[in-house]
Amino acid sequence: YVIGVDLGTSAVKVLLLDRSGTVAAEASRDYPLFHEHSGWSEQRPDDWVNGTIEAIRELTAKAGISADAIEGLSFSGQMHGLVLLDAEGNPVRNAILWNDTRTTAECREIEAQLGRERLLTITRNPALEGFTLPKIMWVRKHEPDVFAKAVSFLLPKDYVRYRLTGALHMDYSDAAGTLLLDVANKRWSSEVLEAVSLPASFAPPLVESHALTGTLLPEQAAAAGLNAGTKVFAGGADNACGAIGAGILKEGLTMCSIGTSGVILSYEETSANDFRGKVHFFNHGKENAFYAMGVTLAAGYSLSWFKQTFAKGESFDELLQGVGDVAPGAKGLLFTPYIVGERTPHADSVIRGSFIGIDGAHERKHFARAVMEGITFSLNESVAMFREAGKTVDTIISIGGGASNPVWLQMQADIFDADVVSLENEQGPGLGAAMLAAYGCGWFDSLEACAELFVKRASVYKPNPAAVDAYSGLFRIYQEVYAATRTLN
Ligand code: XUL
Repeated sequence: YVIGVDLGTSAVKVLLLDRSGTVAAEASRDYPLFHEHSGWSEQRPDDWVNGTIEAIRELTAKAGISADAIEGLSFSGQMHGLVLLDAEGNPVRNAILWNDTRTTAECREIEAQLGRERLLTITRNPALEGFTLPKIMWVRKHEPDVFAKAVSFLLPKDYVRYRLTGALHMDYSDAAGTLLLDVANKRWSSEVLEAVSLPASFAPPLVESHALTGTLLPEQAAAAGLNAGTKVFAGGADNACGAIGAGILKEGLTMCSIGTSGVILSYEETSANDFRGKVHFFNHGKENAFYAMGVTLAAGYSLSWFKQTFAKGESFDELLQGVGDVAPGAKGLLFTPYIVGERTPHADSVIRGSFIGIDGAHERKHFARAVMEGITFSLNESVAMFREAGKTVDTIISIGGGASNPVWLQMQADIFDADVVSLENEQGPGLGAAMLAAYGCGWFDSLEACAELFVKRASVYKPNPAAVDAYSGLFRIYQEVYAATRTLN
């Protein structure tokens, strides 16, 4: 067996997988988020460690197997979160998370120090509030006494791994989200470090996601109900692990993930495609590969908002009843899902959403369908951008809440004008983490070979030409709504 640890923002989920890729047991532990001020988002690093150990203990107890049967474990981690460590390896303060937005001034400072174009060339990403480097600079500026104790930093899952093994590492896929990595050349950028006056010693050793980083420390192994010899592999960023778990491991495969936010992720065999910061560009969890990623901030969240506001107390199934009877285009009703702002392609935190074309004959099902279409149009902006960059997008693996509804899967095929594939046993990032451990343990020669056995396709939704046509006209109108509504707020 192997264990995949998915260290998320609200909980850690652990999966036990056997050699056929079947999930033998699952367990999870929640932990709190702290929002001391508006826009702040923090967690206690040791809550992650304790939660992970407790969840693993429950997992092995549930499965009723001996610790000897578990060969290795690996991680998927929430990206970008800053854990600053002192010389003894203890956190000097709470972790500042990916969804914390206090660092706008530091982002501008980074761009001023280095120049936006140079930053894009090295790190392949613009300075965004969520990324790690601006958080380091924020602590240095606002909490100098705390910062004075810090000698290095880790990302969330790297801290948990460090506590379990005693060894400090960071993998490329997660390091890519720090804004300190030379992404194409896979090394810390001395130019960026110098520009922001950080010593090279601040950045931890880099490893591949499937690299063996050590074995469990005896006391941690005992607490988790595992053997001290259990191998611990580096793991990767949650989006990289989500891609691995969906089998996005070769050119031509794209992933659509609709959770609270939505992601269109495109596999990149090399670093040659340069999107100049219009989409995120990160190292993959597969050695020497990359991925590009566009984000819709309020994807599933738009539908939850709609349900909460207009169908409180109903289930999603009840809300979506009848949506399949409405023809593409929701009878002239159009929704833009910018209800908390927009990331790709506009990177506009001020814009807000809209319903356009309301008719006296519209019923709730038309509105529900328009919301699903609007979310999918927004994701199609990323698909369109990848196509404009010369990529072929003809097969999209769909995961997350958006993949649990056949009407939505067909809608994705029709709006994206691509085959949309659903998966049988969708475990997302946790599966990707377990696959890294399985590959690291030598069960397979490659991650691709592992995916052949572990990632099982369920159904393929083919685009329907009439619907594709209708949607391509509507998508052009959708794209115009952004500019037309920019000044509403
Ligand atoms: C990616 C990002 C999120 C987090 C969520 O840039 O900020 O997807 O990784 O955990």
